[in-house]
Amino acid sequence: MKKYVQKNVSDINLEDYLGEYEGRDALAGDMVFTGGREKESLNGLWHYAVDQYETCIRQHWFEERYESREGFSLPVDFSFDEWPVMQLPCSWNVQSEQLFLYESTMVFTRRFGFIPRGNERVWLRIGAANHVLRVFLNKQYVGMHRGGSTPMFFDVTDLLQKENRILLACDAARRPEQVPTENCDWFNYGGVYRDIELYRVPQVYIKDFRVWLVPDGKLNKIRAEVSLGGGPSAETAPEASAAEFEIPELGIRQTIAVKNGKGSVTVKCAPELWSPESPKLYEVSVTAGEDRVSDTVGFREVRTEGREILLNGKKIFLRGVSCHEDSIENGKALTEEECVKILTDAKELGCNFMRLAHYPHHEQMAKLADRMGMLLWEEVPVYWAIRFARAKTYQDAENQLLELIRRDMNRASVIIWSVGNENADSDERLRFMSKLAAAAHKEDKTRLVSAACLVSVEENAIRDRLAAHLDVIGLNEYFGWYTPDFELLPQLFKNSDPDKPVVITEFGADALYGHHGSETDKGTEECQAYIYRRQVAEIGKIAYVKGMCPWILYDFRCPRRTSVIQQYYNRKGLLTPDRKHKKMAWSVLRDFYRKKEEEA
Ligand code: GCU
Repeated sequence: MKKYVQKNVSDINLEDYLGEYEGRDALAGDMVFTGGREKESLNGLWHYAVDQYETCIRQHWFEERYESREGFSLPVDFSFDEWPVMQLPCSWNVQSEQLFLYESTMVFTRRFGFIPRGNERVWLRIGAANHVLRVFLNKQYVGMHRGGSTPMFFDVTDLLQKENRILLACDAARRPEQVPTENCDWFNYGGVYRDIELYRVPQVYIKDFRVWLVPDGKLNKIRAEVSLGGGPSAETAPEASAAEFEIPELGIRQTIAVKNGKGSVTVKCAPELWSPESPKLYEVSVTAGEDRVSDTVGFREVRTEGREILLNGKKIFLRGVSCHEDSIENGKALTEEECVKILTDAKELGCNFMRLAHYPHHEQMAKLADRMGMLLWEEVPVYWAIRFARAKTYQDAENQLLELIRRDMNRASVIIWSVGNENADSDERLRFMSKLAAAAHKEDKTRLVSAACLVSVEENAIRDRLAAHLDVIGLNEYFGWYTPDFELLPQLFKNSDPDKPVVITEFGADALYGHHGSETDKGTEECQAYIYRRQVAEIGKIAYVKGMCPWILYDFRCPRRTSVIQQYYNRKGLLTPDRKHKKMAWSVLRDFYRKKEEEA
């Protein structure tokens, strides 16, 4: 007993109780290609406990120490299988009144059976958990993941048994050093809120598979790259020496030579091009050794030429709208139906483009956009006052960016990676975000890189130094709302002379649906509609503005918004939070987009 009492006392006085878990981060480099793979789902009922003081990881509940070393029974402070249950994946905030504002740690656990097939590796994939997740399996610490919106992979091959217990400690706390920080303009939903799955792969497996139309302006070459993982040992390159790449509908069946675990091939062909108007998709696959993966891919080219954005060689205006991942009923854990409704509502508005703000949305959004024909801006939450001087914060941001790019690399709908939003221009911020932009360009040479920049108030112009590192300049401007004097908007455009395309990534105004008054009564539908009319009239005249995605499609939950018309919602939506009612400004934007579409 004495020894255990010592241990117990040490738990209570343990100051750095998190340190022992460091250094085991699941990173972008751990990702495994899952398209076309058989999976075993761990979604379902999980037991849970609200663990405000993180006692689970302080006291190692996951070790399930019911006896002392001397064999005495010990008191424990948990009852895993008697805890209440919650259906995962979900955002816990919308599961009960008590949990609505809970932002600390929740512990989830369940048992599951597993029948090993031998000579395989098994990966645990969790689609997303907000913000930090620590994973335990059969009394062992597996690893952790930072970042609330990107997938994580853990190799659990050597830990699995016939009967298993998995335990997840999900920490939703907002912190200044995280990405995003503790201050942001959206609701902080906690939880393991995207799928939890096991994937079996052969010893030598396909780790990454990318396939795209070569963006050289000729629209007549498809390139495929494959990289292998595993093999007899980490040191030696995986054994497969060739892979078979296929696109049956194009009559492509091409051997790819594989050396040191990597191979690529470029095939001349003339695929039917993907576009929002004609979202043609092809089944593609690659086989290597005993492994085979597949995907459904559209072939298109996006690039800039001077101040133009070209899709498949044609000038395009991005008729967009912004959107959060936010549902009254489901928090961030949107259903596929809700995602389809978002894209359908955007199409009804006349959009060919959406800004998925301010973090990676569920991968189903890009897959649905591929099918339904919608161009996408995807973004990492480098939002507002990030700790730009902190090296670990940069590593966190870059890792989330690479996880997003590798997750959605084969999605034709995604045309722009955004490295952040509304960050005040400073030397440290310039270093941080230009490095992030370079990381995106290095990882993916087929897409454009942007960021939502701020207006330079002193000069009333587009002067953000980050613009030199971007392909497209995103600009948030709120003339008529936060900057009441509308005359400054045409001035801004006159004062600016960008050498590349500009997309107005935000403008808008709050309006409570059904609240009416004059055009100057802030918070009324008339005022919002007036601001939209003035905005589109000015923006429509500017040759170097090649797109816009006004803020925002739907009202969304926001703890910072407490006025009588807001009631903890940001009311800049064109539709109500239940997605049922359009405000007057909706028609203003729809009419403008109809005109733009006729001009195209
Ligand atoms: C900012 C920010 C948004 C925010 C919006 C607003 O531009 O990018 O996240 O919700 O303005 O103030 O409503």
